[in-house]
Amino acid sequence: MIRSRTMLAAVLVGLGAACTSGAPTRSAAPTVAAVPMSSAAYVWNDAEADKLRAMRVLGDPARGEQAFISCRGCHRAQALGRPDGSYPRLAGQHDTVLIKQLTDMQAGRRANAKMLPFADHGVLDTRDIADIASYLTRLPVPADNGKGPGTDLATGQAQYDQLCASCHGPRGEGDAAKFYPRVSGQHFKYLLREIVDIRDGRRNNGDPRMIEVTRGLPDPVLASIADYMSRMPVRPAR
Ligand code: HEC
Ligand code: HEC
Repeated sequence: MIRSRTMLAAVLVGLGAACTSGAPTRSAAPTVAAVPMSSAAYVWNDAEADKLRAMRVLGDPARGEQAFISCRGCHRAQALGRPDGSYPRLAGQHDTVLIKQLTDMQAGRRANAKMLPFADHGVLDTRDIADIASYLTRLPVPADNGKGPGTDLATGQAQYDQLCASCHGPRGEGDAAKFYPRVSGQHFKYLLREIVDIRDGRRNNGDPRMIEVTRGLPDPVLASIADYMSRMPVRPAR
């Protein structure tokens, strides 16, 4: 979804944010030391300054399209990713989620060594991140994403409705205001890898409540849920 100033204000109030003001400055911010999830100091979705700064900038999709050129080699034109799951789709993802993930990677909270040279501090500044997010969130999400084998969709649906829909939405639409990713239209293999990584604590910025609900679920059950998610209908292009 596209942020309005009202919604943005609500998000910021919700975070209890102490915002810094002023225009973003190019790559001046030092890298924030990552707090490992095992530490008592770890707070999921901490009100970290880089994220808040990017969220306060109203992104320009035309500039974002230009800035995204360096990302296309992996994420592909139109940000459709690859069905083999190696690179996720970014098209249609909530701008808040994109901003959180990008600033988490810059801060070392989500490891992504392959991508960091293209997205680190000094390469993307606050405004670039806001622009890219506003471009990506408006892109159409065609239904040609990679799907699972389709062998146990009943289990996938039952588990999804019970354990995941409360956050990711009954139709996989996520929730921009809460930083819950859209999962419809995403490639099956990427979905499965992320669920497993979050369950096992490898995706260092995972939501602790999601770790809690996935803990103890064996890989085949996670695969059936990812399969079901990959087949959720996606909204038409704007
Ligand atoms: C060298 C390949 C590569 C390039 C170039 C690259 N990325 Fe990525 N990106 C990845 C990979 C791999 C992942 C998935 C990492 C994982 O599995 O956790 C990813 C994940 C992401 C995510 C998180 C998606 C999600 O659903 O959580 C965002 C956002 C993102 N990339 C944005 C960008 C932007 C913006 C650029 C350009 C400035 C870019 N990427 C360039 C490889 C790349
Ligand atoms: C309490 C809310 C909550 C619940 C319940 C939850 N999730 Fe999540 N999920 C999240 C959040 C928040 C993220 C993003 C975490 C981050 O910031 O990196 C996420 C990330 C994901 C991702 C990665 C998306 C991407 O684009 O990288 C997948 C896939 C996923 N969840 C699947 C599931 C499944 C399957 C379940 C049920 C078994 C589930 N989630 C339950 C909140 C939740």
